[in-house]
Amino acid sequence: MKVKINPSILAADFVNLERDLQRISESDLVHIDVMDNHFVPNLTFGLQMVTRIQAVSPVPLDVHLMIEDPDRWALGYAELGAHSVTFHSEATEDPVALARRIRKTGARAGVAVKPGTGVQELLPHLDEFDQVLVMTVEPGFGGQSFMEFVMPKVRAVNERRMLDRRDDLWLQVDGGIDATTIAIAAQAGADTFVAGTSVFREGEPNENIQKLREIARIHQLS
Ligand code: DX5
Ligand code: ZN
Repeated sequence: MKVKINPSILAADFVNLERDLQRISESDLVHIDVMDNHFVPNLTFGLQMVTRIQAVSPVPLDVHLMIEDPDRWALGYAELGAHSVTFHSEATEDPVALARRIRKTGARAGVAVKPGTGVQELLPHLDEFDQVLVMTVEPGFGGQSFMEFVMPKVRAVNERRMLDRRDDLWLQVDGGIDATTIAIAAQAGADTFVAGTSVFREGEPNENIQKLREIARIHQLS
C-alpha cells in the first residue's frame, strides 16, 4: 500500500497560506480541517476559503469535515474539486447514502470516527467508501498527543480491507503523528498519515514529509 503523507494546514501560517502550501509541494495531498464550532469546539474556515486553497495548492485536497451537518455541506467541497471529502460517522444518520452522493461527483468519499467511536458497524460497508479515517486524537485542535489505544480499530479496518481485496481503500490516521508515532500507526496498517505540527513546527516542511514517509515505509506491514 503506497504511503501517503498529508500535511494539515491547521499548523500552517494562515496569513501566509499560499507560501506554506508551496513548502509542502512534495506531499501527497494537503489536509484541510473544516471546523464549525459545533461538532468540535473550534472554528476554522469554510467553502469560500477552501475554494481559494484549491486554486493555488500544488497538491490535491483532502478535506476533513468536522461539522454538524455534513449532509448539507459535503457536496460543496466535492464539487469545488477536492480529491477526497471525509465526514464524521457521528454527524450523519446514513454514512453510506452521503458517501454515494460524494462519489457521484467524482471525489473520493471518506468516513471518520472519533477515538470513542467503534468501526464494527462500518466494516460490512467498506465497499461504499474510499477512505476510513481513524482519529488518533479528539478532533478539534492540532498539537495533541497520539492515542495509541485506537490502534485495534486500525488493525480491524486493515484486516477487513485485505479480505475484501480493497487496495484502493485508504486507511488514514490523524492527530499527534510524528517520527515516533507514525511507526506505530504504520505497523497497525495505516497508509495515509495526517501531520500538522510535525511537518510545520520546525525545519523544512518538505524535508519533514520525506522523513515521515521513509519511517512509515520501513514500518509498514508487507
Ligand atoms: C485535529 C485535526 C488534525 C490536526 C492534526 O482535529 O483533525 O488534522 O490538524 O494536527 P497535529 O498533527 O498537530 O496533531
Ligand atoms: Zn484532520
